[in-house]
Amino acid sequence: MFLQERSSSTVRCELRRAVGCDWPEGRSLRSRPGFEPEHEHRQVRVAAGCLDQPQILESAVTFLWTAVPDRMTWRYGERGYRYLHLDAGHVCQNLYLAALSVGCGVCAIGAFDDAAMNRLLGIDGEGQFLIYAATVGKKP
Ligand SMILES: Cc1cc2nc3c(=O)[nH]c(=O)nc-3n(C[C@H](O)[C@H](O)[C@H](O)COP(=O)(O)O)c2cc1C
Repeated sequence: MFLQERSSSTVRCELRRAVGCDWPEGRSLRSRPGFEPEHEHRQVRVAAGCLDQPQILESAVTFLWTAVPDRMTWRYGERGYRYLHLDAGHVCQNLYLAALSVGCGVCAIGAFDDAAMNRLLGIDGEGQFLIYAATVGKKP
């Protein structure tokens, strides 16, 4: 839906401008290295891991954020675990605001199958785990 109306390079430029992070030249949103059919398969697996929520397949971009507890707990001890989640909330809110500034909508995704998503991402679910996700696309 979103990609048909605005080219991925337009989205990339707008997102780069909005979120201030660079998107490597030559790497479009849908033709990341290795963008073979298995990418579509991966997208379907992400959607399945997120309990088949339709926005995963329909949106232009799905962000998956993982957390590494050690990076927080070495400094804050057990309390660091709480900060991981607060941080994830801030990051996603920034995405909401950045997307809004370029006329896009975001849907935060907290409902996902932890084990399936960590497996898909190739992480162990303890030293690193999926903490939050969000989809970006055309505002409804
Ligand atoms: C922590 C969190 C997790 C969420 N997880 C989901 C989700 O898994 N699926 C979904 O459709 N919406 C999810 N949402 C979006 C809420 O459903 C949405 O923010 C709420 O319905 C209010 O709608 P609005 O953001 O358009 O105002 C989540 C929102 C938050 C803050």
